[in-house]
Amino acid sequence: MNILILGGGGREHALAWAIRQNPKCDRLFVAPGNPGMTDIARCADLDVLDGGAVVEFCALEAVDFVVIGPEAPLAAGVGDALADAGIPHFGPSAAAAQLESSKSFTKEICDACGAPTAAWARFTEADPARTYIRAKGAPIVVKADGLAAGKGVVVAMTEAEAIAAIDDMFGGSFGSAGAEVVIEEFMAGEEASFFVLCDGVNVLPIGSAQDHKRVGDGDTGPNTGGMGAYSPAPVLTDVIAQIALDRIVKPTVAEMARRGMPFKGILYAGLMIENGQPRLVEYNVRFGDPECQVLMMRLGAQVFDLLLASAEGRLDRMAVNWADDHALTVVMAAQGYPGTYQRGSVIGGLDAVPEDSRHMVFHAGTARKGGHLVANGGRVLSVTARGASLAEARAEAYAMVDKITWPEGFCRSDIGWRAL
Ligand code: AMP
Ligand code: GLY
Repeated sequence: MNILILGGGGREHALAWAIRQNPKCDRLFVAPGNPGMTDIARCADLDVLDGGAVVEFCALEAVDFVVIGPEAPLAAGVGDALADAGIPHFGPSAAAAQLESSKSFTKEICDACGAPTAAWARFTEADPARTYIRAKGAPIVVKADGLAAGKGVVVAMTEAEAIAAIDDMFGGSFGSAGAEVVIEEFMAGEEASFFVLCDGVNVLPIGSAQDHKRVGDGDTGPNTGGMGAYSPAPVLTDVIAQIALDRIVKPTVAEMARRGMPFKGILYAGLMIENGQPRLVEYNVRFGDPECQVLMMRLGAQVFDLLLASAEGRLDRMAVNWADDHALTVVMAAQGYPGTYQRGSVIGGLDAVPEDSRHMVFHAGTARKGGHLVANGGRVLSVTARGASLAEARAEAYAMVDKITWPEGFCRSDIGWRAL
């Protein structure tokens, strides 16, 4: 089959790496892709937010299957354009993608199906929101309703912080994403990510992970897209995963089907676990980045069969071939990230890093310039390794990091600390 992956980050490099190994894969395209993938795929220049352009590309290149990586094309309806054109694809419709693109939509679904989550209220004006915060007190969580690239959430430890967040969001800092605000009860506990494939009716868990959102060691400093991740997440035991599946994921999928917007794709449930009970923090409707890198490392080539079964409504007949080992990824970012950073610094040493089924350097923000590999984004590389234990995976990944020479880059030195 000819396969097109939309996206160009570490997540898409990992997807391409796994899919390439599947014997069903003939030609592989990634749009826009990145320099890390040029030996396994053709990188195509294509506006991935333009459903019409994607459909046209598929016709031109005889693409049989499309995997949509990031949330933006999903929310923009690229899945719907492919469905209308009869092109098989992995990823939900724009209506079903509201599970990520609208926080209040997800809270309503949870209420309708009884999925445990934080108590909440929705506001379209600042005054009643301020009154609500004063009545509830801190800690409290303030969220812009729409997509805000992971920056629309303020976990406020004081009332003043919460009110400042309200002023900020209604003041237009998040554009239309902040026109509506959700205020939530603060949930204590440990977070884990649970990844479940869905075909509209059936669900199939494919793994768990934990990421590190803060930029600094010890989980300090501002939030980022994710500075590292590991899989599995020890806190998400089999028993807790089953509870999350039965009380959160399955009721959600049933409620979505009942509303005529069946969910097909990957449901990435962010869970807060306290006293053995999971509650939903949020859904994403795509793989996490960098969580995808550790999941792909452990799943390998079978991933494509699973994505295909999800698109074709056959997940009830599929099983996952579990690797019983661990994977860990360390993100190398440009100095300054998540604030302002420079592009164009030269990255060396990659030739010295062995790449095989247990070691991969996935590229995110890289470019080729004058024969050199250079940094071209905030998060630049995702250095990933497997090991018999989490400690071994971590030692392997950091040994790879040590071989990379990039003075303008940095990484956290403690990925995995919570689990170790
Ligand atoms: P979200 O974008 O909804 O995942 O929120 C980003 C982060 O904020 C989450 O990963 C949590 O760490 C934190 N968070 C969100 N909602 C809550 C909540 N109700 N209670 C505690 N922490 C939260
Ligand atoms: N690493 C967090 C995310 O992809 O949403």
